[in-house]
Amino acid sequence: MYTRLLQRKLGLVNALEVIGRKRDGQEHTAEEIRFLLSSYVRGEIPDYQMAAWLMAVCIRGMTPAETLALTEAMVASGEVLDLSAIDGIKVDKHSTGGVGDKVTLVAGPLAAACGVKVPKLSGRALAHTGGTLDKLESVPGVTVDLQPERFIQQVREIGIAVAAQSPRMVPADKLLYALRDVTATVPSLPLIASSIMSKKIAAGADAIVLDVKFGRGAFMPDIAAAEDLAREMVVLGEGAGRRTVALVTAMDNPLGRSVGNALEVQEALDALAGEGDQELLEVCLRVTREMCDVARVSADVEKVLRSGAGRERFERMLAAQGGHLERGLPVAPIRIAIGADADGHVEGIDALEVGLSALELGAGRTRKEDRIDPAAGFVIEAPVGARVRKGEPLVTVHAQTPELVERVASRIRNAWRIVDREVRRPPHVLARVDRDGVTKAD
Ligand code: URA
Repeated sequence: MYTRLLQRKLGLVNALEVIGRKRDGQEHTAEEIRFLLSSYVRGEIPDYQMAAWLMAVCIRGMTPAETLALTEAMVASGEVLDLSAIDGIKVDKHSTGGVGDKVTLVAGPLAAACGVKVPKLSGRALAHTGGTLDKLESVPGVTVDLQPERFIQQVREIGIAVAAQSPRMVPADKLLYALRDVTATVPSLPLIASSIMSKKIAAGADAIVLDVKFGRGAFMPDIAAAEDLAREMVVLGEGAGRRTVALVTAMDNPLGRSVGNALEVQEALDALAGEGDQELLEVCLRVTREMCDVARVSADVEKVLRSGAGRERFERMLAAQGGHLERGLPVAPIRIAIGADADGHVEGIDALEVGLSALELGAGRTRKEDRIDPAAGFVIEAPVGARVRKGEPLVTVHAQTPELVERVASRIRNAWRIVDREVRRPPHVLARVDRDGVTKAD
């Protein structure tokens, strides 16, 4: 009590007052937010007070100015990568996470082959969604733990490096996310947007291309929520002086033809050779064009793809990070096809069910410390729009044991929705958001 009176006398903010202001729906000053966050990171504010504030934010929301102040305070809580030794406009790319999402593995090297500098810090698989780092580590020898000097040198030489974020970057996000996770305060737009964008801003790139996914296999349930998140993140990126563009994309069905770490690396290599799933190729080309645009690089992206330069860039990147593609990607010993139980056309493939089944096979992790099986996963034999006959394969399961296949068989079969009329594949990119607003796809 005495401390609080003294603080008030001296005109200092205190945690209780800040929490009370948010509870009552008032707007924080940037100073209040900086005080709260920096005190929390130093251990001077206990979890129970921070949790109360987070819940107040969940219920009351935050203004754009507050969210920017929170993001900046989070960035300031740790190290920021200095990329000034790399010439040109550096471009980062981020996806909010999905099932079968290997776009970074294709668009990153392709953009690098077009002349864009791509210093990319990525994440790991969590729950039903995959992570780029785990995918890369399925290549024998690859390391994603690059010291800043090596990371920067690689981007200078090859145009792209993909690495894990240093634990010294944005420590506030780790603390806050762990607390949000156990206090039902994850689903708040300003908290999600500041969490994602603080990491992107600390990663040091000049421009950021975001892929905000919505639907069954994504974090955001519907397109309206995804557009709101995209808008919020674009405002934060631009507010921090980074050119930011977001694509809003559908994640009701898995992307491409494979789900699982090594399987997705193989699919990315094929896509970089111009082969494979058309929808995946279209999305990768679109993301690459956006990366070129924000970097002010003019390139014929399709021509670069056809030339094989993107694939060559990917192989050089893997080799620079210790990879030995020539040793082959890990292959699961058991590969069993699951057949359709009726004639018809594939209307949809439940991405969440596919992601959860992949998790069950060991392709992902439920806890941070879980080990993953790089070879496990699925190859989609009957994509959305395909016509199938009873008994024809829908999907091939790649697993370590027949028991694991047995365990996921009915769940994965039921992920396919088969109807008795022709189906057209729905559009994948539904909107684009930049500082001028939202443009819907035709
Ligand atoms: N991903 C993040 O990095 N943070 C969130 O809050 C949600 C998704």
